[in-house]
Amino acid sequence: MKNPWNNVPLEVYESHMSLSDVVQLQALNGIMREQVKSHQEAESAAVIGVAGGNGLEHCLEQFKQVYGIDINPAYLDVCAQRFRQAAGKKLKLEEMDLSEPEAAIPAVDLVIADLLIEYVGVETFCKKIAEAHTRYVSCVIQGRDCEQRFVSESPYQSAFQDIERLHQDVDESRLTDEMSRYQYRLVFRRSSYMPNGKELIRLDYRLEA
Ligand SMILES: C[S@@+](CC[C@H](N)C(=O)[O-])C[C@H]1O[C@@H](n2cnc3c(N)ncnc32)[C@H](O)[C@@H]1O
Repeated sequence: MKNPWNNVPLEVYESHMSLSDVVQLQALNGIMREQVKSHQEAESAAVIGVAGGNGLEHCLEQFKQVYGIDINPAYLDVCAQRFRQAAGKKLKLEEMDLSEPEAAIPAVDLVIADLLIEYVGVETFCKKIAEAHTRYVSCVIQGRDCEQRFVSESPYQSAFQDIERLHQDVDESRLTDEMSRYQYRLVFRRSSYMPNGKELIRLDYRLEA
């Protein structure tokens, strides 16, 4: 069965995320700027679940090599239109279903994964990170304690019905425990609250070995 993310047009996703009571797109852009700034020592990065490249400009400013990875090829086409001319060979876009056993994250210093783990699951995510032996990992998950559903209410909500069925809440402690099985230690945590009450939690991990 086709992954439901392949059925959501990017303009619907981005319009939904930009609505004044959702404003997650702008918030996630700011978070990505901070994620990049906190990893000055990294030379390369992969943004997994890159969608239309929200925040990618921060990566392209700082890193020598940047990968954008997503399951939806139409999203990657938009990323190419938005960034390829300015970024040239520095930006590599790869279509990949990270839940497939053969999918491999490229060898980079930093992986950024914002609101993606909900769709691939904690176990698969941590395994893929460990296989890639990435030194730094920075991710954003949605807090589970807020009353808001994962997909915020908006006129575009009906487009997300199948996605809501796919998404699983991420338990923060379970993610940190699973990462520690692969020698990744939690080094940073910050919550941001959206106007609609949603909590976005940024968690950074570092490979100890
Ligand atoms: C909630 S969006 C987050 C997009 C972006 N990171 C942001 O913060 O706005 C989830 C993204 O992950 C992608 N995605 C979902 N499942 C995936 C999978 N199995 N493999 C690769 N990408 C996936 C979707 O296509 C979508 O672009």
